[in-house]
Amino acid sequence: MNPQVKGFFDPSTWTVTYVVYEKPGSACAIIDSVLNYDPKSGRTRTQAADVVIDFVQANQLEVQYILETHAHADHLSAAPYIKAKLGGRIAIGSHITTVQGVFKKIFNLEPGFALDGSQFDELIEESKPLQIGALTLNALYVPGHTPACMAYQVGDAVFVGDTLFMPDVGTARCDFPGGNAHTLYQSVRKLLSLPPETRLFMCHDYPPEGREVRFETTVAEQRAKNIHIHDGITEDEFVNMRTRRDATLEMPVLILPSVQVNIRAGQTPPPEDNGVSYLKIPLNQL
Ligand SMILES: [Fe+2]
Repeated sequence: MNPQVKGFFDPSTWTVTYVVYEKPGSACAIIDSVLNYDPKSGRTRTQAADVVIDFVQANQLEVQYILETHAHADHLSAAPYIKAKLGGRIAIGSHITTVQGVFKKIFNLEPGFALDGSQFDELIEESKPLQIGALTLNALYVPGHTPACMAYQVGDAVFVGDTLFMPDVGTARCDFPGGNAHTLYQSVRKLLSLPPETRLFMCHDYPPEGREVRFETTVAEQRAKNIHIHDGITEDEFVNMRTRRDATLEMPVLILPSVQVNIRAGQTPPPEDNGVSYLKIPLNQL
């Protein structure tokens, strides 16, 4: 069964949050929610998540899952906030445990920080579909940008996470800890082997000047036009391009705040003895 898909673009992080559902009054899943965060003041706000919550309530949807395609490095997840308002189980790909291992060391997290993904309600594996009411969601393991990236396929719709961007933008970077451009190439080929009419929903859009924000495309369009990885580009060509380009990119503004929250399923670190939760900035590690 093909789902209905509603995307919400957050201009402060260029991220798209999706609600996927059968029809008004049905079950739904929310994919890649955003908690707004101001690095200047250290204050979080919920305006992006509230728009999604309003849509879910207006359509009388029942949230079954709040999914992450990966541990994002450019925004904090609003999953716990949405769960408190609407219910649902917070889930991410099972390889998040690898990412937790890498970043527990970088952030020197508290000894009690578990490396088994138990901060999430559920860990998703490629071979185990989820039910969202009448819809079946299949996870596709698509590492490369991170070692834990998942894409989620529901009927003719695939939420690609950070693998592909729109054809005129290209592909996600592969230079974060655990990233690998060879692996991303294989993951993208896996996505582009789906039927040509498959609808692909991007996790981000960074529109070139003069183009409106867009975040839906198809397998056929990506195979014909993706500037980094259209049909005919070899793995070596892709890896050379990706590696050279990644060497020129700065770290995302919110990578340090985001990752330490997102590997906890969107929870802030345990409060200190004054009741305040603090984020850490490791010096000279990234
Ligand atoms: Fe990402």
